[in-house]
Parts: sequence; structure tokens; C-alpha cells
Amino acid sequence: DFPVEIAPLARETNALIDTNREIVERARTHVGNLAHAIKTPLSVIVNEAAAHAADPFATKVLEQADVMRDQVAHHLERARMAARLTVIGTVTEVAPVIDALRRTMEKIHRDRGIAIEVDADAQARFRGERQDLEEMAGNLVDNACKWAASRVFIEVLLERPVAPGAGPMLRIIVDDDGRGLSSAERAQVSRRGQRLDESKPGSGLGLSIVVDLAALYGGSLSLGHAPIGGLRAELLLPGV
Ligand SMILES: Nc1ncnc2c1ncn2[C@@H]1O[C@H](COP(=O)(O)OP(=O)(O)OP(=O)(O)O)[C@@H](O)[C@H]1O
Ligand SMILES: [Mg+2]
Repeated sequence: DFPVEIAPLARETNALIDTNREIVERARTHVGNLAHAIKTPLSVIVNEAAAHAADPFATKVLEQADVMRDQVAHHLERARMAARLTVIGTVTEVAPVIDALRRTMEKIHRDRGIAIEVDADAQARFRGERQDLEEMAGNLVDNACKWAASRVFIEVLLERPVAPGAGPMLRIIVDDDGRGLSSAERAQVSRRGQRLDESKPGSGLGLSIVVDLAALYGGSLSLGHAPIGGLRAELLLPGV
């Protein structure tokens, strides 16, 4: 119940939110339909080409059909992400998410005895969905644990707005004491499917998902050198 003066404004805002949700939903349905429509002809092409495996033309067709399949999967995934961003004004407390993540990751990597240290601003809040924050931070902390020698350090900072009128920024830093990555390697690993160390399990998708999700929120991921020796992953996101 709103004071009578702002009731029309509240109605307008709710209508705007509804419309926005519908637009995103419609776009998502289109992408889904398109992907579905392409799937069957693509399977026919792949089957026909596979039946002529000795032919270099068929090999080329197979190779390109694979690229198309990958693209379809990629855009479906993006549409799925975008559909989750529809709720305007969603706010997530960061510290509890990081804490839950620390406990989970310590369990998963228990046999390697990785110590995860957290220094999180208790006031830090993310302007977005909890699930998305979990996915972004989760991928980074998982990597840090996989490649750490013994230590992972997570820091959460809330930074004042840079420009008047702009919102505060959230900076989430994940450091490990593993082998790290050279600058050439760092430029490579954020791309889909790129893996430089096959000795650990994975599909090479984690970082590209973080990059895509962060971009949807107008944020970014940067990789660098951690003071404790390994990789530093730094996530910049809209705060509250
Ligand atoms: N903390 C890190 N230290 C050293 N190398 C890393 C680190 N994080 C990522 N990398 C390198 O970047 C590659 C890509 O990382 P990404 O998270 O995208 O995929 P993954 O961890 O191999 O698989 P997935 O995340 O899909 O399970 C890794 O295979 C590894 O070579
Ligand atoms: Mg990963």
C-alpha cells in the first residue's frame, strides 16, 4: 500500500517491469524456437556428411556443422542467462554467498587441504540475482582451488561511485598460490573451451560463463597476478 500521491507512479513502474519481462521472455522464446528449428536440418547434414567421411568436402561440412552446433548452444545459454536478469531491483547480500561458497569448496577439495581465507565487506550488496553471483564467484573459486598449491584468498570490496549519479561498484578478488598464468595465457583462457592444463578436470567453459554473465550486468572480469603467487581473478559488478 502506497501513499495516494505515489500510487500512479507505482502502477506505472509495475507496468514497465511487466512489459520488460514480457519482452525478454519473447526474445528468449524466439531464440529457443530458432535453435530448435535448426537442430533437425543440422542433424541431417551431419548424418549425410558422416556417411561420406572419406570425401574432403564432407569433412569440411562436418567441421562447419560442428561450429554451428556450438554457436546454437552458446546463444541458447546466453538467452537463458538474459532471461534471469528481468527482475529490476533485485539485491543480493554478498558475504553470505561467499561464506557458503567457501564451505562448499573446502568440502569438495578437502583431500587437498586447501585453506580458503575470506575478507568480505559485510555491507557489500550485489545489484542482481543470487544465482548469478553464485555462478560467477563459484567458477572463480573453483578454479582457484583446482590450481592452488595450498591457499585461496577471497576479498570483497564495496567501492564508492566514481562519478556523481553512478552507483557503487562491487569488487570481488579471488587469489591463489598456484602456478598462475602468463599474460599471453591470460588472454587465451577466457575464450570458450580453452584449457591450458589438462591435468585437472574441466570443460574449459567456466571463465567464459563468468565473462558473459558479468557483461550482462555491465561488469567485467580481469585476470592478473596474485600477491600470493598464482592467478588473481577480479570481478567488477554493480553494487548497491
Ligand atoms: N586459478 C588458475 N590458475 C591457473 N590456471 C587457471 C586458473 N583458472 C583458470 N586457469 C586456466 O584457464 C583454463 C580455463 O578455465 P575455465 O574455468 O574456463 O575452464 P576449466 O576450469 O578448465 O573447466 P570448467 O570451468 O568448465 O570446469 C583452465 O583450464 C586453466 O588452464
Ligand atoms: Mg573452471
